[in-house]
Amino acid sequence: MTNDIDTKFLARCFGLSGLTAIVTGAGSGIGRQAARTLAAAGAEVALLGRREEALKETEQMITRHGGRARSFAVDVTDRQALSEALDAIQESMAPLWALVNNAGVGGRAPLLDVSEAQFDQILGVNTKAALFVATAFAQRLIASALPGRIINICSLAAQSHPLNLAIYGASKAALEHLTRSMAHEWASHGINVNAINPGFIETEINRAMFQTPVGRKMIESLPRQRLGTPEALDGALLLLSSPAGGFITASTLVVDDAQRFGVS
Ligand SMILES: NC(=O)c1ccc[n+]([C@@H]2O[C@H](COP(=O)([O-])OP(=O)(O)OC[C@H]3O[C@@H](n4cnc5c(N)ncnc54)[C@H](OP(=O)(O)O)[C@@H]3O)[C@@H](O)[C@H]2O)c1
Repeated sequence: MTNDIDTKFLARCFGLSGLTAIVTGAGSGIGRQAARTLAAAGAEVALLGRREEALKETEQMITRHGGRARSFAVDVTDRQALSEALDAIQESMAPLWALVNNAGVGGRAPLLDVSEAQFDQILGVNTKAALFVATAFAQRLIASALPGRIINICSLAAQSHPLNLAIYGASKAALEHLTRSMAHEWASHGINVNAINPGFIETEINRAMFQTPVGRKMIESLPRQRLGTPEALDGALLLLSSPAGGFITASTLVVDDAQRFGVS
């Protein structure tokens, strides 16, 4: 009996059945795990990214366990292709609800060595494309009078200034700033917009770097001498994407295992 009540309560707070969640960068790392988590909460998940095979792997991981997912191979910097993918999602899936704006690129260099091309690439994906994915999603919600949730995956680097990650940090700081502006502008439409600032999570974006002597030293400098796994973001993601998070908007959730006190 208690279990029944708990189950219903949890489904009411965190359930996403009958709703579509879009995850960009869903073919690997944090995006793949986000897609699996949202599918486990009941959402139909639209998987976006450039590598079709990687998306299909995520799709199979979800459908194998009875979840629902569909892949849309798209480069988020291509606004026309993005718009077509969103149209296809709206036509073929459950009503839009959540966007996990996760696609992103890294790039390490001291400021004196940063090229214009590197600057444009990092801000082009992490800031500009993230902005236009969010606006394309919000435009559709607003046109359909639907409420929704946007979660922008920013980074601890937006606030912790790690060496050689200045441009990456700036791209995420800009996205974090835009998060609050989106939340403000779209509040009256019932769209909640929040940021998650993850600390170091071991994925394709940084695995090789953490295997170098410099990377190993960085891990040792962290308060708990450990990196996170993509699952570390599950709780934050579920809170911000679910009915339980209805009064949370324009916030940043730092999920970093206190790494901010150790990163140098
Ligand atoms: N790992 C960390 O420590 C950490 C910490 C803080 C924040 N983050 C952020 O978390 C997000 C996910 O990173 P991750 O660690 O999971 O690394 P990852 O495995 O390299 O994931 C990045 C994803 O972004 C997608 N992507 C990149 N450019 C794209 C484009 N132009 N169009 C569509 N998709 C694109 C990639 O897919 P395709 O190559 O298939 O397109 C890939 O699936 C990023 O925004 C990253 O900045 C990561």
